[in-house]
Amino acid sequence: MLSYRHAFHAGNAADVLKHAVLMYCLDYLRHKETPFFVVDTHAGAGFYSLTEGYAARNREWEKGVGSLLEQADLPPLLADYVVLVRDALGVGLHPAGRYPGSPALIQRLLREQDRAVCFELHPADFTALEENFAADHRFRLLREDGLGGLKSLLPPPSRRGCVFIDPPYEMKSDYTTVPEYLAEALRRFSTGLYIIWYPLLGRKTGDGAAPGSGGEGAALRETLLRFYGGNRCAVELRTAAADNGVRRMYGSGMVIYNPPWTLRGVLGESLPVLASMLGGEQGSWDLSWEGE
Ligand SMILES: C[S@@+](CC[C@H](N)C(=O)[O-])C[C@H]1O[C@@H](n2cnc3c(N)ncnc32)[C@H](O)[C@@H]1O
Repeated sequence: MLSYRHAFHAGNAADVLKHAVLMYCLDYLRHKETPFFVVDTHAGAGFYSLTEGYAARNREWEKGVGSLLEQADLPPLLADYVVLVRDALGVGLHPAGRYPGSPALIQRLLREQDRAVCFELHPADFTALEENFAADHRFRLLREDGLGGLKSLLPPPSRRGCVFIDPPYEMKSDYTTVPEYLAEALRRFSTGLYIIWYPLLGRKTGDGAAPGSGGEGAALRETLLRFYGGNRCAVELRTAAADNGVRRMYGSGMVIYNPPWTLRGVLGESLPVLASMLGGEQGSWDLSWEGE
């Protein structure tokens, strides 16, 4: 089933968190000259118009990146991300400007010696991905299942790299297949930097779930934190009421294996500001850090 289109959600609060963290982690890998390798298992189209098409319908971006574009005082996690988004969108949301998805952020941070592989299954998004990145010799684009294709790429020759796992979770089985495929990836490349995103969905009236429990996303977070014994962290940002009576996203999170050690301080300083900027009184956050 491929009904999910990321264009509806481009630039929303979940994108802000995942994209700012991805940029920070890739920037950290640039501190050494040795090449690094990035795998984006669910890449999407790479760029999204916010002024026309799907993103213009629900305008989710307005409560996400739209709340940050005019801010002068941004916390450290957001500074580079917002500069990049402002550049891409152009002054005053220029109609030709497009919001940069994960492949565009990766492209901005890759150096000549670095390489990226992007997987995307949706035919229309894959065509857009090709139009946007096929000319860049540092990229390989594959219209294949990203989780299934991951193991054949690991470990990367330089033994340095980042795996970004950002599934749509439109099928409940995504919550169980992610840890299954991760097990093999970790066997091959246990020192890699892994970023695994998950949504926090509201409790549907009468579905029996505990209030604010976070549903399958929160359960996946616990599984992922138990699953790997090395340095790992979980970060969550909530921007709406949890018990909204519908299965609507009220927040999201990421489990990160082998995160940059500096990320802890940056998240600690940035998350309270971000929660308040994007969620107002309903904004909240969590950060847990495990390992050495
Ligand atoms: C959440 S979106 C990705 C957004 C993108 N990572 C970003 O940050 O800009 C998930 C994408 O995964 C694609 N997809 C769904 N199942 C897939 C699979 N098994 N392998 C690769 N891509 C898949 C969807 O078509 C969708 O474009």
